[in-house]
Parts: sequence; structure tokens; C-alpha cells
Amino acid sequence: MLSEESISRKDFLKSLGLGGAALMAVLTSCSSSSEAVTPSSVSIDLTSNITSVGNYTYSGGIIVARIASGNTASSFVALSKACTHEGTTVIYQGNGVFYCSNHGATFSTTGAVTKGPATKSLTQYTVTVSGTTLTLS
Ligand code: FES
Repeated sequence: MLSEESISRKDFLKSLGLGGAALMAVLTSCSSSSEAVTPSSVSIDLTSNITSVGNYTYSGGIIVARIASGNTASSFVALSKACTHEGTTVIYQGNGVFYCSNHGATFSTTGAVTKGPATKSLTQYTVTVSGTTLTLS
């Protein structure tokens, strides 16, 4: 029999009777702050997505928000979506403010912290718009 010190989290959850799908949901929910961020894989069709100022969407660990009208790069902001405090997904509140509902941190359109408790900036990605397709790098 295993001692308490040597049992893994996975084994512990299995001992509670969690099946494979439930186990994966628990394990992945604990790792949201380490979600892969792959800007080069993001491609957004602007004819049907984030069409109005204030709209935002998520892709590959990144939040992309429309901050102005028109389909130019300066109309959009792309930041890592995981709050740098404890990893909660941020939202775009409008007026250039990204907000974390967990403890109330806010970030600017450059990803800089404008209100704690977060102390580290979100990562900003470069937006490119070609016609009606938005891509990141
Ligand atoms: S997780 Fe975002 S402010 Fe705490």
C-alpha cells in the first residue's frame, strides 16, 4: 500500500472514483495559467468575428479585442488571456480596459497592469490585418 506522501494527485483523484473524462477536466482546470500561447496559429475572419467595437474573442491562449472601428491593425489589441496574478481568463471591458474578475486586476491595451493585485504585464502580440483576416505574431 502507498503511503500518503507517495500518492500522486492523479492517483488521489482516481481513488475518489473520478472517471477518465472527469479526471481530465479536473487536471486541465488546474493548468489554465500554463495554456499554450501560439500567436502564429491565430487567424480570425473579421467578416464574422469581433465586428463591433468592444467585441473580443479568445484563441490559443490569447484574447483579441476590437478597440476601434475599421479593419486596420490599430483597431485591435491581442494580449495573453491568463491573468498574471493567478491565471484567471481576463475579459475586455471596453474603453481600453482588460479586467480579471477573480481579484479585480486591470490591464491596459499594452498589457500593463493598471490595478493590482497582479504585478506583471500581460504579453502583447503584434496584430496584422490583411483584407478581412487578422493574424498575430
Ligand atoms: S487571478 Fe486575476 S486578479 Fe487574481
